[in-house]
Amino acid sequence: MEILRITGGRPLRGTLAVQGSKNAVLPILAATAAIPGRFTLSNCPSIRDVAVTRTILEGLGLSVAGRDEVLSIDSTGPVGSGPDPVPAGQLRSSVLLLGALLARLGEAAIPLPGGCVLGARPLDLHLRSLEALGVQVRCENGRLLCRGRPSGGAVLLRYPSVGATENLILAALGAAGPVLILGAAREPEICDLAAFLTACGAEIRGAGTSCVRVLPGPLHGAAHRILPDRIEAATWLCAAAATGGDLSLSALLPDQLRPVLNVLSRAGCEITEAKDRLRLRADALRAPGPIVTGPCPAFPTDAQAPVMAALLRAAGITVIEETVFSDRFRHVPGLRAFGADVEITGRIARIRGVDRLHGAAAAATDLRGAAALVIAALAAEGESRITDARHLDRGYARFAERLRALGADAAEVG
Ligand code: UD1
Repeated sequence: MEILRITGGRPLRGTLAVQGSKNAVLPILAATAAIPGRFTLSNCPSIRDVAVTRTILEGLGLSVAGRDEVLSIDSTGPVGSGPDPVPAGQLRSSVLLLGALLARLGEAAIPLPGGCVLGARPLDLHLRSLEALGVQVRCENGRLLCRGRPSGGAVLLRYPSVGATENLILAALGAAGPVLILGAAREPEICDLAAFLTACGAEIRGAGTSCVRVLPGPLHGAAHRILPDRIEAATWLCAAAATGGDLSLSALLPDQLRPVLNVLSRAGCEITEAKDRLRLRADALRAPGPIVTGPCPAFPTDAQAPVMAALLRAAGITVIEETVFSDRFRHVPGLRAFGADVEITGRIARIRGVDRLHGAAAAATDLRGAAALVIAALAAEGESRITDARHLDRGYARFAERLRALGADAAEVG
């Protein structure tokens, strides 16, 4: 999808089932390269990042069958140690093949990964902790060359990086002894990776806490259902909040959305919850008080742009501090095109609620920033055009179609 044309001003109303989690399925797909076995993954989102990962895995020698939400993967044959740099360069999560291939082969040659540009995204935490486990690491011609089976032992992450925690868990599957990860990330997607690996026979303790222990042992194929996508859910809730809508979401875990639900409810949304569903009703919004992004259990950085867009018309001033990424306000110039009043000072954004937004043309710069522009367009009066809308395809399945199902006037152009 290149351009998304939206005529705003219609409240989003209806019911939607949340898709499977992008950030859970990507490490689990990488994990299938670590384990010789046959896997069935259900609730896989039909998004470009999954399609690209599938191409990478097939290039390594795995067979991947199935479409829509169930993928069958056969990893029993020989597996290569060097992913194709063309697809791997499109995704940040391709770096997780480092841990997976080290566990399986004792070597890996990983092209430097891509993904959204959100400021400097170094890999020092991944690489230094693998080195601490005895893996040799060097960078040559745009590739990370790693060799050696990890020893057992303890590693301390100085920041709870999601990717570094996942890479260490994967590498630890082939380690010579138990690996203790201290300072681990606590995101729900880490728990889903651990649940998948446990189904494969691994013994993993403490996932979801900052101290994770992985015991190496024989592994086999398994079936697993991917966790619901808390960031997709947050995006739809923000779109409903911004438009004064009435939205029911099913197939989600409300507890995993707690920081986002707290902000939306402080902004005046009425939210009712059950075990795996919730309903949000919105009218005029007010500034919810300061929002500070951070590692789980803090407010998730991936929801920062959609929530900012939801609050552009909220009465008062909202202050958002982005502490996770150094350049994650790239959507702000686009939001200003709709008439938003957002001032940036370093890592702090001050949003002064305006009475109305007007239709505009704006170019998307990254996945969640693109979602923020769509939310602003839905809340604006008149027609808008979001260009470079292909960023949405990375993480949202059938986005325009699902918007229309909720009553939005949205059409893909080109
Ligand atoms: C994952 C998510 C991404 C989310 C992010 C934070 C996937 C596929 N992506 O990305 O959507 O926004 O978690 O919740 O799951 N850092 C270092 N050195 C490193 C690694 C990270 O300094 O070696 C820094 C990063 O630059 C960033 C911060 O740590 O400032 C968080 O990054 P990290 O948690 O690693 O994010 P990702 O795993 O890349």
